[in-house]
Amino acid sequence: MNNKRIVVAVDGPAGAGKSTISKRVAKILNLEYIDTGAMYRALTLKILRKGINPKDVTKIMEVMEETIIFFKNNHIYLDGTKVDEEIRKNIVNKHVSEISKIGKVREKMVDMQRKLSESTNVIMDGRDIGTVVLPHANYKFFITASVEERARRRYKELLERGEKNISYDQVLSDIKERDRIDSTRQIAPLKKSPDALVIDTTNKTIDECVNQIIGIIEGR
Ligand code: DC
Repeated sequence: MNNKRIVVAVDGPAGAGKSTISKRVAKILNLEYIDTGAMYRALTLKILRKGINPKDVTKIMEVMEETIIFFKNNHIYLDGTKVDEEIRKNIVNKHVSEISKIGKVREKMVDMQRKLSESTNVIMDGRDIGTVVLPHANYKFFITASVEERARRRYKELLERGEKNISYDQVLSDIKERDRIDSTRQIAPLKKSPDALVIDTTNKTIDECVNQIIGIIEGR
């Protein structure tokens, strides 16, 4: 590694392992980790709590104007309160794609994300990091896995979080729907940047993926 700033962009669909892998890489290489999905989730949580229709763009933008989202010690805060757990709830899973496809919401989020990544060594994960947020990142990865494997992981995660009344088939169909919305939306759809390296995690351990990424960043 030389002395230039390290900027790593990680994109991919829901449940591919992006955040687990990015967190570990961040810890090992001492990078700032920014989970952009968590930011869209935090806003979605606030919209749902306020009972606002996820299609009401005017109201959503009003709420966004008065919302403060920040990270501290790898925790996410919504208006000063830690919301790590709440933003992973199934109800947020179900509505986050709808909120995050709104162009005005994305503009503000991208601004915030670029500011967060200024002047620091960073690994940022999401859907449009290599393509839109940090197109000049010096390392780009596209992490993916089969939709069935991703649904299995999300189902297990939800059960471990104590969610009731969920089934694997429902989680699979929700993930397919989220993939559809995320990759067909007009603005900044989920798409591999042409210069990103694809890592398929379906049959790989987390450690294998982490080592591969670190090897590339360290130029091994
Ligand atoms: O990575 P995740 O599952 O926590 O992301 C939640 C949702 O947020 C995802 O369905 C789409 C949206 N998202 C986005 O549109 N752009 C990003 N950079 C990150 C997430």
